[in-house]
Amino acid sequence: MDKKKKEGRYQRLYKQIDKLMPTCEDESSRRATIIALLHHKMNYFFWTGYYLLKGDDLLVDHYQGPVACMKLAKGKGVCWAGISQKTTVIVQDVHDFPDHITCDSRSQSEIVIPLKNKAGDIIGVLDVDSSDKNSFDEVDALYLEKILNLRFST
Ligand code: SME
Repeated sequence: MDKKKKEGRYQRLYKQIDKLMPTCEDESSRRATIIALLHHKMNYFFWTGYYLLKGDDLLVDHYQGPVACMKLAKGKGVCWAGISQKTTVIVQDVHDFPDHITCDSRSQSEIVIPLKNKAGDIIGVLDVDSSDKNSFDEVDALYLEKILNLRFST
């Protein structure tokens, strides 16, 4: 999708999510709603969901798309890279990423954004996969991060 079109979509989505969040204060319900909206409004999102840190494990949370791995092997793949590097990771071709974890062979590119709690601690990641290569760029990184922060709006 070209950048202008992508930006327009994210801007509309941001406004919609901003209006919805104050209607329920539960953070998990807010997380789930963000995933449903992102997944159904962004047509290149093939798998959209969270992995959350539980002790030493990274376990799947709310998601939309095909059935995914429930537990990600410690220290491997893109989600763990986002956690250990504490930064957004964009992979244009998953086949080029060392020890990428394949939950569904149709996934070709992905973006992982660290998910923080209110205090700023990393509690997991938002993971989005596309069935095309080269789907994600800095526009996705910017807006997905902004949208995740809406979980804390009052
Ligand atoms: N690709 C991820 C695993 C999760 S799936 O994409 C849903 C990774 O390598 O961390």
